[in-house]
Amino acid sequence: MGDLKFSRLFLVVTFLVFLGVCRVSVAASAVQQKKNTYIIHVAKSQMPASFDDHTRWYDSSLKSVSESAEMLYTYNNAIHGFATRLTAQEAKSLQDQPGILYVLPEVKYELHTTRTPTFLGLEQSANLFPESDSESDVIVAVLDTGVWPESKSFDDTGMGPVPASWKGACETGTNFTSNHCNKKLIGARYFSTGYEATLGPIDVTKESKSPRDDDGHGTHTSTTAAGAIVGGASLFGYASGSARGMAHRARVAVYKVCWIGGCFSSDILAAIDGAIADNVNILSLSLGGGTADYYRDSVAIGAFSAMEKGIFVSCSAGNAGPSAYTLSNLAPWITTVGAGTLDRDFPAYVSLGNGQNFSGVSLYKGDSLPAKLLPFVYAGNASNSTNGNLCMTGTLIPEKVKGKIVLCDRGINPRVQKGAVVKGAGGAGMVLANTAANGEELVADAHLLPASTVGQKSGDAIRDYVLSDANPTATILFEGTKVGIEPSPVVAAFSSRGPNAITPDILKPDLIAPGVNIIAGWTGAVGPTGLAEDPRRVEFNIISGTSMSCPHVSGLAAFVKGAHPDWSPAAIRSALMTTAYTAYKNGGKKLIDVSTGKASTPYDHGAGHVNPVAALNPGLVYDLTTEDYLNFLCALNYTSMQIQGVARRNYSCGAGKTYSIGDFNYPSFSVSLQTQVIGGGGGSSSGGGSKSVVKHTRTLTNVGGGSGGSTYKVSISTTSPAVKITVEPDTLTFTKAYEKKSYTVTFSATSMPSNTNEFGRIEWSDGKHVVGSPVVISWI
Ligand SMILES: *[C@@H]1O[C@H](CO)[C@@H](O)[C@H](O)[C@H]1NC(C)=O
Ligand SMILES: *[C@@H]1O[C@H](CO)[C@@H](O)[C@H](O)[C@H]1NC(C)=O
Ligand SMILES: *[C@@H]1O[C@H](CO)[C@@H](O)[C@H](O)[C@H]1NC(C)=O
Ligand SMILES: *[C@@H]1O[C@H](CO)[C@@H](O)[C@H](O)[C@H]1NC(C)=O
Ligand SMILES: *[C@@H]1O[C@H](CO)[C@@H](O)[C@H](O)[C@H]1NC(C)=O
Ligand SMILES: *[C@@H]1O[C@H](CO)[C@@H](O)[C@H](O)[C@H]1NC(C)=O
Repeated sequence: MGDLKFSRLFLVVTFLVFLGVCRVSVAASAVQQKKNTYIIHVAKSQMPASFDDHTRWYDSSLKSVSESAEMLYTYNNAIHGFATRLTAQEAKSLQDQPGILYVLPEVKYELHTTRTPTFLGLEQSANLFPESDSESDVIVAVLDTGVWPESKSFDDTGMGPVPASWKGACETGTNFTSNHCNKKLIGARYFSTGYEATLGPIDVTKESKSPRDDDGHGTHTSTTAAGAIVGGASLFGYASGSARGMAHRARVAVYKVCWIGGCFSSDILAAIDGAIADNVNILSLSLGGGTADYYRDSVAIGAFSAMEKGIFVSCSAGNAGPSAYTLSNLAPWITTVGAGTLDRDFPAYVSLGNGQNFSGVSLYKGDSLPAKLLPFVYAGNASNSTNGNLCMTGTLIPEKVKGKIVLCDRGINPRVQKGAVVKGAGGAGMVLANTAANGEELVADAHLLPASTVGQKSGDAIRDYVLSDANPTATILFEGTKVGIEPSPVVAAFSSRGPNAITPDILKPDLIAPGVNIIAGWTGAVGPTGLAEDPRRVEFNIISGTSMSCPHVSGLAAFVKGAHPDWSPAAIRSALMTTAYTAYKNGGKKLIDVSTGKASTPYDHGAGHVNPVAALNPGLVYDLTTEDYLNFLCALNYTSMQIQGVARRNYSCGAGKTYSIGDFNYPSFSVSLQTQVIGGGGGSSSGGGSKSVVKHTRTLTNVGGGSGGSTYKVSISTTSPAVKITVEPDTLTFTKAYEKKSYTVTFSATSMPSNTNEFGRIEWSDGKHVVGSPVVISWI
């Protein structure tokens, strides 16, 4: 599904670029006059005294550079400022007006496209917190493609009145009335002004100009985060059981910001602005776009304002793995979520004429293949196109595939579309083979014809067979749903990986959560494949992506906030991170990265896989205040203007003060050490900026309660003797609730490194709680 989303958006991009080129060649001067959307960040404190109202001042600034420019949005909460359409020249003039901080061009973001609760052990929590009904006061805002309000996951039976804190709305529009909201789906709004300013009016025959979800993605993410419990859920009988959101008592407010042509930053910022005013508690964004510096990234800027209001912001890490440096949503006030698998699979075996069998996965439902082997052909041998092996639209020659099973390679176009292409050309079935980009990761799809997806190794063997055998034959056998798959979880190959490209000293992703083959609510507007040629309609769908793992963490944050309403977003994140696990329960082996088949590292899984029941009672947390984040920006050497761009205030970093990212109270450690080693065995730094020894300080807050006091001891592990890690003090005793204690970690290079990175873990334990932090060390 992630693949599908990407390619659809890429098609739109290609199309727009093409139009742009035409215009340039027709009239070069028209380009100068061409207007684009800009988001203007204003230093509200610099409003001249002659204005009594900031919107008049915005109008006046705008009119001074462009008589005709219309105000698309004014922002009051996420930022101070407005969005408008300007020529490049006008944008430049506006930048020079007094009080204007930044004039940022519109950016397009992309979506990062039930057994989960059992897998996460959520059932246990009922016993731990039988009356955790304060969860029903928590409001989860989901910025996405909107909502299908008829989904049973929004049944509000038994829910109390809407929380008094709620200030939002249920907006009406195409096929959406205020009756579509209830005590579960308490709000629904849509933001299309920026989108329409760029792409023209929404065609309501193609998408609803309302909060209604014509795509399915937004219904899936919002019901994953906080859908009600629905018994008897399944997709064509697959994954049957109860479907439930992570915080099934919490309330949902949807903000539709993504449309067929993408998700535009001016609309996203308006939605965050609105969600803050509406008094939501959690913001869930399964989308991303580029890696701009924090003061140029609308999601990062909006998230800062949200964090200040105590709103927990969770974002998807991206589906650009397994390469390094592929993460999006990197700001440290955002919780960045990667994806892992569940212990559930949908096996569909590929049986070959030579007697060999290979296991794959499928969510196909319908007429089975005949009980005999069918002729088998490689798509690359049934096409005129150079990319014929990919089964792209219009590339298969019907005479060569009719009645046959076709082997297609994964990549470029959506997996389900490959199936539609084979079916359209008259093929009887499809075997979809992973390539190196996906390795052994098996993502199941509700294909339109009998089909099975196999891993790279099986795919290579099957390809060898079909290319070498004179009369290759095959069939596919569907085995339904299998649970108890081990090992699980494994890190998904598509899950984006660190290091952090903006601030290498902050480890991202923060953690992983289920994101492969996830069942949740779906739209009634399109079938499970999302393809126009798919006439099927389903109440639940099974899809994959960090888009799916993000709302798991959003919902679990609501779950933790329900139990601890006074915890800050940083405390909630700390609880989720320090209790995450990095080894399998049985046997203690490290979590596997499916793209390599080897142990995953903190660059793949962050602090580990979320463990919600433990997160309710973490013992200690690494807390952070707004001032800590401001000091973090000082440590980045941000100018006062850049700080104002992120944090909407003129914060002055003390001239004589030294700020260190190393002392930023994050629950993980990312350290750069010099390869040059001082004297045999870790003497002190030889000065002159040498980084062979680095010290980080952290402060823990006792949230374990307990009047008798508790004593935590540290334990340290590393993958390599090249780094020595010491912690001082190595014991922390807490006697009161919310008491704070600090410690300092010293990282020293002791010998020449054998790897480019080293990894480790620092854990504090009082025997009841384990407070774990991942460590990554990179060599400069
Ligand atoms: C509105 O809903 C009706 C009934 O479900 C449907 O037939 C129609 O296509 C929908 N219109 C849009 C624009 O989605
Ligand atoms: C392959 O699968 C078929 C059908 O389940 C079975 O009859 C056959 O014995 C299997 N062959 C091997 C080599 O496992
Ligand atoms: C099928 O394609 C492969 C390369 O993809 C080529 O080596 C082989 O000769 C082709 N076979 C036939 C029968 O065309
Ligand atoms: C493949 O090439 C043949 C001969 O050039 C042509 O007739 C046919 O339409 C082509 N098929 C496709 C799918 O492009
Ligand atoms: C900030 O500036 C100081 C002093 O020039 C330098 O030591 C430090 O590395 C800089 N920090 C970053 C994150 O660039
Ligand atoms: C920030 O404050 C300083 C003085 O404290 C002032 O000189 C500067 O103009 C202010 N900058 C902005 C962008 O408001």
